Amino acid sequence: MQQASASQSMNTHLLQNANLLDGTGAPARVCDVLIRDDRIAQIASHIDPKACGAIDIVNCQGLTLAPGFIDVHTHDDAQVLRDPQMLAKVSQGVTTVITGNCGLSLVPWVTQNPISPLDLLHTTEFKYPSLSSYAKAIEAVKPSVNVASLIGHTTLRAAHMADLNRPANESEVLAMAAQLTHAMQEGALGLSSGLFYQPAGAADAEEMKALTRVVGQYGGVYVTHMRSEMDSIIDAMHEAAETAKAGRTPWILSHHKCAGPKNWGRTIETLALIDRMAKTQEIGLDAYPYNAGSTLLRTDLVDGVIQILITRSDPHPDMVGRYLADIASEWGLSQQEACQQLMPGGACYFQMDEADVRRVLQHPLTMIGSDGLPHDERPHPRLWGTFARVLGHYARDEKLFSLPEAIHKMTGLSAKRFGLKDRGQIKEGWFADLVLFDAAIISDQATFDQPLQMCAGIQKVMVNGMWSFNNGRTPQQGSGKFLPRA
Ligand code: ZN
Ligand code: CU
Repeated sequence: MQQASASQSMNTHLLQNANLLDGTGAPARVCDVLIRDDRIAQIASHIDPKACGAIDIVNCQGLTLAPGFIDVHTHDDAQVLRDPQMLAKVSQGVTTVITGNCGLSLVPWVTQNPISPLDLLHTTEFKYPSLSSYAKAIEAVKPSVNVASLIGHTTLRAAHMADLNRPANESEVLAMAAQLTHAMQEGALGLSSGLFYQPAGAADAEEMKALTRVVGQYGGVYVTHMRSEMDSIIDAMHEAAETAKAGRTPWILSHHKCAGPKNWGRTIETLALIDRMAKTQEIGLDAYPYNAGSTLLRTDLVDGVIQILITRSDPHPDMVGRYLADIASEWGLSQQEACQQLMPGGACYFQMDEADVRRVLQHPLTMIGSDGLPHDERPHPRLWGTFARVLGHYARDEKLFSLPEAIHKMTGLSAKRFGLKDRGQIKEGWFADLVLFDAAIISDQATFDQPLQMCAGIQKVMVNGMWSFNNGRTPQQGSGKFLPRA
């Protein structure tokens, strides 16, 4: 009896006098918050520290307490197994990562030879024939963050199609649908696609609709890296919206941008279309707060105008961190030719207009997702900086939106959109995923020159009632869980 109450109070934390932002977008109020085991037990203007039996009492005076941030767009599928401490994420206040984006998921596929672009997730970790086997592996490594997963269309194709350079035939569609059904039953959040990438781009609308119909039956979402984010973006939006409609699933548009100088300014057009579409279907967007994207090295993205920073080159690792234009002139080649020589690899493409970035971030349906690439040697700074940059640079300094609104875009809105039960808000009875930070100093430190920098201003991060990050450090064993769809 004695022992039980002692261990219970070990897991009881009292956070006093915090400026509480609850994740709904409501303004801050000063409160005490009591956490018992993995849940938020009480929120009140004053909680008696003696009566509640808390051993861990934290004075939060002057600090902001928010729900843990949800990184809705990640490629952390393998990273969370290889490096469960996940410092790049938890140090920004992230408590949940959503994996399996852009059509690329580690499950369900077992192979030693992942085709491009699946190799972006890492080459040696495709070991999981089912979502439940992946979930078990996640829980076994005790990660510092929670993990929820989409199932990638590109992965399903790789697992079930003999020739990837054509639309799936009837039996292949059935095989993919059966596997997707199984994954949805095991708690997948939905389906993602990356039709921008070959060979997934060979899929036609019928193939996609057959799969969104499965997702719709289970109340999942359809998340797309669309066929085009450039000249043909409007066509691509209609295609994606129709695909989601056929399955009666919400549609989430990944890392929305209008890429390439010819398309700068066109988010006025695309966001107006989103507003019209949102009257007849459920829509979400995600975005990261930078004017450069990052993906594999591809010659079709080399237009001779935008700056391209090399983040990875298998044949020329010494060129990492340099600009393609400089390498090309040094080698006496065109940028296209130099790109060809540097492949396979990765790059940051400065392909967006700042006004577009701001317009997308400000849109009420936009959630924050880093799209960080954890296996690049010198990754885009979004991997370490996204959440702090939205809060510090864009909310506090540039006043793009209020702090409560910024928090809502990374917590309450995201949990609701993706179906994460009892998370995303600070509410009695809900899970204790929390971030304590200093709103006056929070800022991203990662830059394109020095991308591996922890942000400033995050003091403590709690995941399922345990401290997962405390003044710059993470414990050996985290308290993150695999989160099935609600
Ligand atoms: Zn993508
Ligand atoms: Cu992505």
